[in-house]
Amino acid sequence: MKGTFPIDKFRELRTPFYYYDTKVLRDTLACIRTEASRYENYSVHYAVKANANPKVLTIIRESGLGADCVSGGEIRAAIKAGFPADKIVFAGVGKADWEINLGLDYDIFCFNVESVPELEIINELAAAKGKTANVAFRINPNVGAHTHANITTGLAENKFGISMEDMDHVIDVAQEMQNVKFIGLHFHIGSQILDMGDFVALCNRVNELLDKLEARRIRIGHVNVGGGLGIDYGHPDRQPVPDFKSYFETYDNCLKLRPYQTLHFELGRSVVGQCGSLISKVLYVKQGANKQFAILDAGMTDLIRPALYQAFHKIENVTSDAPQQTYDVVGPICESSDVFGKAVDLNGVKRGDLIALRSAGAYGEIMASGYNCRELPQGYTSDELV
Ligand code: LLP
Repeated sequence: MKGTFPIDKFRELRTPFYYYDTKVLRDTLACIRTEASRYENYSVHYAVKANANPKVLTIIRESGLGADCVSGGEIRAAIKAGFPADKIVFAGVGKADWEINLGLDYDIFCFNVESVPELEIINELAAAKGKTANVAFRINPNVGAHTHANITTGLAENKFGISMEDMDHVIDVAQEMQNVKFIGLHFHIGSQILDMGDFVALCNRVNELLDKLEARRIRIGHVNVGGGLGIDYGHPDRQPVPDFKSYFETYDNCLKLRPYQTLHFELGRSVVGQCGSLISKVLYVKQGANKQFAILDAGMTDLIRPALYQAFHKIENVTSDAPQQTYDVVGPICESSDVFGKAVDLNGVKRGDLIALRSAGAYGEIMASGYNCRELPQGYTSDELV
């Protein structure tokens, strides 16, 4: 065992694979529980899109979180992991009929609706089953999050949600319908947000809308502010737990929730990000014209975040104590963007060394693809590898 990794076990496994440290995951979940339970009316859901590995999902379900799903497949994964249907929320800008029917069949808690045409279909499909579906409207608050452009979602130019101006109309339409019940509002401004000021800006918008609803004498019990809390990619060990305390406090300080309202959160990255690493083997060390490359057996097909968002993941040679040298760390895929890091200082690398790409628990394994006819990486938990 070196550091926090069971290296001897790793050597028996086919690389690349994801490794989930369940202590980090359970500590993170305990922290969420402690911090959220300071507030009576807070309810935390896990955004399944971040990582749907069945073993990870089961641990999260055991901690009591609900599930935020964005597809029929995610609803199935959540049900299979034992999440109670009444703690499942279904969001997404393009829900197919079979997915809506699946949600109706399971009697999930709520559909987060993003347009009038979608509302009409939910009403129609619910009527066909003689059911009433709870719906919340996803409102686009036109708040910019200070994060990568590809993962900001709350701006007017994004495809998500219903504009604030259209909210009244959509509520009117819903209230005319027999088979949907308008129970709340939903928001989500983006991901990997570290500036609490962004959440304050969201709270200000939500407050305006809650006042508006009150003026119309409309009572909703459910306010869902989405997820988005970021993690410290630079220090996977020093700060395994994101700053849930400030996060929940910000909402407590800034949101003017009515006493009859429950506040829902849908956290993804902050729950699972730090517990996961992608473990890969060095295939070759190649001397280029003016740099040396460490060529791994993991590529952008296993962890696409660096190629897609220029995301930083800390890279460690976990099997070497040799003096540090500088490498471009790359994968085997036939794409120039298949690079995990440029000019990375690593303990001297040789063929067969194991390399960990840290903070890869969120949007890692779940975004893996079979491009180049590659096999999908497996995921193992520390519980299995003792
Ligand atoms: N709720 C909604 C409606 C969402 O769209 C998302 C994430 C979440 C909750 C969870 O957000 P989180 O707490 O994880 O920030 N693949 C990208 C991130 C995409 C996030 C999409 N939506 C990445 O690797 O950075």
